[in-house]
Amino acid sequence: MAGTDNYELPEQVKLLAQTTQLKGLMTIIRDKETPRSDFIFYADRIIRLLVEEGLNHLPVVDKTVMTPTNAEYQGIDFEGRICGVSIMRAGEAMEQGLRECCRSVRIGKILIQRDEETHQPKLYYSKLPKDIASRYVLLLDPMLATGGSAMQAVQVLLDNNVKEDHIIFLNLIGSPEGIDAFVQRYPKVKIVIGELDACLNADKYIMPGCGDFGCRYFGTD
Ligand code: URA
Repeated sequence: MAGTDNYELPEQVKLLAQTTQLKGLMTIIRDKETPRSDFIFYADRIIRLLVEEGLNHLPVVDKTVMTPTNAEYQGIDFEGRICGVSIMRAGEAMEQGLRECCRSVRIGKILIQRDEETHQPKLYYSKLPKDIASRYVLLLDPMLATGGSAMQAVQVLLDNNVKEDHIIFLNLIGSPEGIDAFVQRYPKVKIVIGELDACLNADKYIMPGCGDFGCRYFGTD
């Protein structure tokens, strides 16, 4: 198994702070003995951290408010509007975490699956907010394995006139292979990632990974 010791994360990839809190949450969701209800609960906690960090990468403007003590507070306000786009199906698990941070946020969906004949990721469905071209997009997919689906999803966003540097891709676990392929093709997209794993196995699962995220979250095989 390849290691991550000599791997340097590209600058557009923002790794969450590697705290003991995060490590504890990751330990639970990676454990194959973890029951589904715990998997959902602790994955949701990591997703919340990812969304909060993703929001840190949005542009802001200065904003001054008066506090109840009649003093000025030099604060900020977010500039521009956002929306979410989940890559079905696993990305849908991240929608609630986004809604908890951004009330009534619009969320589009993209369905990409591997074509049985060509083995290439193929777009089956997309439904996006009409004004997506004027928004910052938080793209949701928990696992960045080969990067195939994520890259196709970004292409769908670009085809809908979203600016590449207005896309922030959130995922829990990534592989060096997936990150490198993605960053090479879309260098202006920011990636916020929970943990970096060692490599992919022959079946393109992330190692050590957490197995099939969508199946564990939604309780399917
Ligand atoms: N998708 C998953 O759910 N897990 C992996 O390891 C890779 C892709």
